[in-house]
Amino acid sequence: MKDWTIGFIGFGNMAQAMAEGLILKGAVKADRICACARDWDKMCKNGEKYGIKALKTPLETARQSDVVIVAVKPYLVEEVLTPIREALRDKILISVAVNFPFEMYEKFLLPGTHHLSTLPNTPVAVGEGIILCEREHSLTEEEFAGIKELFSAIALVEVVDTKQLGAGGTLSGCGPAFAAMFIEALSDGAVLHGLPRDLSYKLASQMVVGTGKLQLATGRHPGAMKDGVCSPGGTTIKGVAALERKGFRSAVIDAIDAIEGR
Ligand SMILES: NC(=O)c1ccc[n+]([C@@H]2O[C@H](COP(=O)([O-])OP(=O)(O)OC[C@H]3O[C@@H](n4cnc5c(N)ncnc54)[C@H](OP(=O)(O)O)[C@@H]3O)[C@@H](O)[C@H]2O)c1
Repeated sequence: MKDWTIGFIGFGNMAQAMAEGLILKGAVKADRICACARDWDKMCKNGEKYGIKALKTPLETARQSDVVIVAVKPYLVEEVLTPIREALRDKILISVAVNFPFEMYEKFLLPGTHHLSTLPNTPVAVGEGIILCEREHSLTEEEFAGIKELFSAIALVEVVDTKQLGAGGTLSGCGPAFAAMFIEALSDGAVLHGLPRDLSYKLASQMVVGTGKLQLATGRHPGAMKDGVCSPGGTTIKGVAALERKGFRSAVIDAIDAIEGR
């Protein structure tokens, strides 16, 4: 696994986040990563930025890689991969495209291609991401174990059923936007009462990180964690009641439902 060369077809937000995290965590050396994109000048600049090799085409990328990560927009996946199907036959193909499970790849890849559909989120850039892996895949056991080990360097890796990719991917993939809105709103509240902006972002972000880590470490029910901070007649319960009056929890539930209802 340590000797794998990783090739990204498409080097936008998600591919860069993954490359950055893998390099930062020492899971892959930058000189073992290559990538291609549509705009060659932009690709060269990004190649320099991360110290990775810029390549001109998806075919070159596939040929020079052991693990090919397809990171173009979902509507481009079939169009970009179909012409290079032969070159992908003896590679490990990893998809990060939303709504692109195993069965969809089976329709256009050559029979016997080793492929796995995953859903990462952007905090992989700092090694604190989530990567969902579809249970159904055509990797060998050894390849699958190697990919899970590789991705564990930058994310919590969970293997899920195909039907769980939707809600799971929405929670982990769209969640960073909701969490960022929460951080921004908390900070606005604190700034309203005189806290400097930079400090308020720092405190809000660390509070979210710490609360998440505490829940993961203890497995405590989130409701019990909330109860633990709310003393009777105290200050926190006043804030909780205000959030309930504004429909905070139902607004968050509706956000997931709005996406999953599609
Ligand atoms: N962003 C997220 O949070 C997130 C979360 C989960 C999954 N995903 C999945 O990740 C994938 C990429 O999303 P993104 O947000 O990273 O999109 P993005 O920032 O728009 O990046 C797309 C990349 O594809 C490249 N590209 C377009 N046409 C190409 C072609 N014909 N050959 C080679 N490269 C080509 C683009 O190159 P140019 O820039 O030069 O045009 C760009 O580098 C999507 O399938 C998405 O569903 C994203």
